[in-house]
Amino acid sequence: MSAENTSLHGEWSSQLGFILAATGSAVGLGNIWKFPFLTGSNGGGAFVIVYLLCVLLICMPIMMAEILLGKRGRSSPINTMRNLAREYGHSTAWQILGWSGVLAGFLILSYYSVIAGWALAYVPQAAMGTFEAVAHLPQAEVVGFVSAIFDNLVADPWKLLFWHTVIILLCIVIVAGGIQGGLERALRFMMPALFLLLLILLGYAMSTPKFMEGVHFMFDVDFDKLFYPNCTEFSCEFSGQGILAAMGQAFFSLSLGMGAIMVYGAYLPKTTSITQVATIVVISDTVVALLAGLVIFPIVFSHGLQPDQGPNLVFNTLTVAFGKMSAGNFFGTLFFILLVLAAVTSAISLIEPTVAWLIETGRFSRISATIFCGLAAWLLGFLTVFSFNIWKEVRPLTWLMSEQAVLDVQPGDFVDKTWFDVLDFLTSNVMLPLGGLLIALFTAWFLGESVLKQELALGNRGYRFWRWVLRYVAPIGVGLIFLNAIGLFS
Ligand code: TRP
Repeated sequence: MSAENTSLHGEWSSQLGFILAATGSAVGLGNIWKFPFLTGSNGGGAFVIVYLLCVLLICMPIMMAEILLGKRGRSSPINTMRNLAREYGHSTAWQILGWSGVLAGFLILSYYSVIAGWALAYVPQAAMGTFEAVAHLPQAEVVGFVSAIFDNLVADPWKLLFWHTVIILLCIVIVAGGIQGGLERALRFMMPALFLLLLILLGYAMSTPKFMEGVHFMFDVDFDKLFYPNCTEFSCEFSGQGILAAMGQAFFSLSLGMGAIMVYGAYLPKTTSITQVATIVVISDTVVALLAGLVIFPIVFSHGLQPDQGPNLVFNTLTVAFGKMSAGNFFGTLFFILLVLAAVTSAISLIEPTVAWLIETGRFSRISATIFCGLAAWLLGFLTVFSFNIWKEVRPLTWLMSEQAVLDVQPGDFVDKTWFDVLDFLTSNVMLPLGGLLIALFTAWFLGESVLKQELALGNRGYRFWRWVLRYVAPIGVGLIFLNAIGLFS
């Protein structure tokens, strides 16, 4: 039986090792960069509420399922799914889940690393005191100043490529070192430090004149802003994209749906309580995202920045904050270093499933597997690097459309996406929820009852509730949100 084996790749030294690694995977750019900018672009409170509902009703039970599959399968997601399917007498086609995870991991890492590179590029800027000028500028010039720093960076493909390369190299070094060496130790002080810095930033945000406006933006629920984003005086068109984005973000932020959490689960000691570790990871991840929002939006409103400016939102607001707060150079440097580290601990979980699988084929050592994966993600990363400069105007989704139809494309239309936008949409909003759906269905319908009960140790009632959610609520929820997004209910 597969459950008797220990993993070929080693094990966490304790339950805490898993919690640190899984939290390290979950907490990253998704919380601090993506969550605020998506909230800002989707109107605020309604997005946050839908996000929280998705976390609670769909993602939390799937997180438990994904850990459970890994813990039973004890290998890479591809082999875990194949072995478990075989063990319970089902088609080995279930391994498709592992394969889609491999693909999603590469696609995500390719852009994730570029964004992490932005954070890394901000470290020397903060250290050299570039942001200090903000404090001496008239209010009206602040926005222009901080935007110029950002625009300068992304307009230069060579700079982006350089920082992207450094991040990929960092990932390779860490993943090649194996799962215990270094990773656990680094995370032990990093996570608390990141949290502390967010609290310091929150202190600054509370001192800005529009703190409460930021709070209201995040928590006042106005569904019209989410459902009818492009209203003009004359027309209002319903859109399900905002809800889809919230669900996609929940999967993305919790690292679900591609086998990252599954492969970390494979390294769990057998005595671990799945329910307990899943709860801790979900709560930490959610708290960090909400904190990031509470830091960002007050600064946005206090300085006349736009909440819906997209991927540059966090960089521009934090620049203002560090420019104005006392000891801002110091805190800024530290913050961007921590953000890079948080991103790297997430990035490594994006290739670990593939690395583990390559090793299991017997043809790769950990080092060669890691280098191979890093190289592939690095090359794919060019698409994202160029999306912000030389290919800024390229819209891949319009390539199959007629010339006339292309002329009719408006800014903000579904097909109005750069390569970066396409990669982000395809992975977060399509592949991860689909992966999660398959994980839910497989676990709740195809695994033996006794295994589930034994692994979860939830008590009869708790177990039945969990299975009910996994069997019906999560799959139907994901399905409805998909149908809604393609406009079936409008
Ligand atoms: N969760 C990470 C973040 O919020 C990103 C990430 C790491 C991820 N591993 C993943 C997303 C696996 C999806 C799947 O930044």
